[in-house]
Amino acid sequence: MKLLLSSVALFALFHVIAGHAGHNHGHVRKTVRIPTKQLNDGNHIPTLGLGTFGFGDIPKIRQAINWAVEAGYRHIDTATFYRNEEEIGKGISDVLKKGLVRREDLFITTKLWDDKHAKDQVVPALRESLAKLGLQYVDLYLIHFPEATNADGSPADIDYLETWQGMEETKKLGLAKSIGVSNFNIEQIDRIKAHSKVVPAVNQIEVHPSKTQEKTIKDCFERNIAVVAFSPFGVFVSRRKGPSQEDPKIKNIAQKYGKTVSQVLLRYLLDRDLIPIPKSTNENRIKENINVFDFHLTPEEISSISSYNTNTSLWWS
Ligand SMILES: NC(=O)c1ccc[n+]([C@@H]2O[C@H](COP(=O)([O-])OP(=O)(O)OC[C@H]3O[C@@H](n4cnc5c(N)ncnc54)[C@H](OP(=O)(O)O)[C@@H]3O)[C@@H](O)[C@H]2O)c1
Repeated sequence: MKLLLSSVALFALFHVIAGHAGHNHGHVRKTVRIPTKQLNDGNHIPTLGLGTFGFGDIPKIRQAINWAVEAGYRHIDTATFYRNEEEIGKGISDVLKKGLVRREDLFITTKLWDDKHAKDQVVPALRESLAKLGLQYVDLYLIHFPEATNADGSPADIDYLETWQGMEETKKLGLAKSIGVSNFNIEQIDRIKAHSKVVPAVNQIEVHPSKTQEKTIKDCFERNIAVVAFSPFGVFVSRRKGPSQEDPKIKNIAQKYGKTVSQVLLRYLLDRDLIPIPKSTNENRIKENINVFDFHLTPEEISSISSYNTNTSLWWS
């Protein structure tokens, strides 16, 4: 009975009937409410976000943002490098105009590209992103990679400690509510911690069954740094690098909960206290990917999925 009641409570907590029926042409739409996690600076991040990377998908992004916010997404991940900030800005403007959400309900992340790592380049780079996004501030600004380049892509000799000073300035100016890093290892994070005033709130890294990242995640958590997990479905890209969507072990888990393999892979990350940012521009898959807050995996199921780890990146060696 207790179990039943707590399931009902959980269901009620995460599945609310949106109070915005007037904006849905008279239909009451079921919206998933995504739990949030407190960052080390006191701000709150929704524990699942919409990924947006894909040059071929740029024309689809505006519509995707509309579908996503209607479904309950509040957290959107972009980057200067994705060249989609303007389209995302249009999508954000749409949902604000429709009255689906207020700006403060959204959590928007963008990232500083490698060719703007000099301290004095950081604030202007963020101002440029904000102009494209049509926003006064982002909720999270990340250094995309620790390595700096020149505009032509050749390596530049700029220490990320200098870049971090520029990031601290964006926070001081209120242009970014939180600041963090992406693709940093723990030694790099510890150097920032030792030499700076602000500790990164987030490290965004690749995590999925063939790159499980236990050590980096544990090290980040010990430092009270939240981990955003990118490429949750990366394993589908290449069979060689991990289980396929037809994998019997993961399929069995999915069947047990009446979920899809993709939903199990997202729950695998959520149950490890990570913040997945699945990318989709397809309406059904956008809805599928957010419908993951009504079940949990057991520790055994998590270990069983982690057993695919080969520490293989889908992006780089
Ligand atoms: N910080 C970094 O360096 C970094 C690096 C890579 C990615 N990222 C971020 O992380 C986000 C996610 O990673 P990602 O884009 O590499 O890959 P992903 O989210 O793991 O996978 C996206 C691919 O899976 C498909 N897909 C989406 N939902 C699905 C579902 N339910 N079932 C089956 N297929 C599904 C998508 O196609 P459809 O769109 O057609 O659904 C797309 O082809 C990126 O978009 C980006 O925001 C950050």
